[in-house]
Amino acid sequence: MNTKVLRNLSYGVYVVSSMDGERPTGCTANSIMQITSSPPTLAASINHDNYTNSCIKKTGMFSVSILCEDVNPGVIGHFGFQSGKDVNKYDDTPYEMRSGVPVVKSAGSYLVCKVVDSMETSSHTVFLGEIIDADILENGTPMTYAYYHNVIKGKSPKNAPTYIPEEEKKMSGEKAIWKCTVCGYEYDENKEDVAFEDLPEDWKCPVCLQPKTKFEKV
Ligand SMILES: Cc1cc2nc3c(=O)[nH]c(=O)nc-3n(C[C@H](O)[C@H](O)[C@H](O)COP(=O)(O)O)c2cc1C
Repeated sequence: MNTKVLRNLSYGVYVVSSMDGERPTGCTANSIMQITSSPPTLAASINHDNYTNSCIKKTGMFSVSILCEDVNPGVIGHFGFQSGKDVNKYDDTPYEMRSGVPVVKSAGSYLVCKVVDSMETSSHTVFLGEIIDADILENGTPMTYAYYHNVIKGKSPKNAPTYIPEEEKKMSGEKAIWKCTVCGYEYDENKEDVAFEDLPEDWKCPVCLQPKTKFEKV
């Protein structure tokens, strides 16, 4: 099976938010799609380990802030690489309350959903939300997931359903740079014929002669 085909699916880049008691919280997500138009519903796939998941389950409400290409990329990282378990993400992100849930102020538009159903998979809950409020905040081109990867050069963490495990990366031919932690020499797989992991175990850094174990992926 060629799992590289999964990369041909298209997505946007969003912040899915909910309330944790009085505290607004949320996470970056790309796995949102419209399911029906009447009533208007959408589906969101949120990892079981994401704090946002438990908040959506408790409140039965979530918002989707639709990010545009000109958004500060820090917003994506802020909401996508740390957890509301540890950080009050909305403390330093301007937001507005819409129909009882927070919406990122710098987003181009937003949707607010009431959970009408959900389905558990081994790793994610797929929430089915009926849209009860939606509006445009400012004009802009909605960011696609491809734009995030190809232009912003962003990555996705393990909890994203579209995460590509290491082995799949290898199969799909994605290349990396490995840096020697002793001297800083970089082994760039884009310029070499052999993947770093396929180099012989006794291979040494050409500059400081340290073994492979002293290298880290950049
Ligand atoms: C570009 C991007 C897309 C992501 N898409 C999803 C997604 O669709 N579903 C999901 O569960 N997590 C996704 N994540 C991961 C969560 O944002 C991340 O695990 C976050 O730290 C969870 O925060 P929380 O614990 O506060 O909910 C994505 C992250 C990034 C950066």
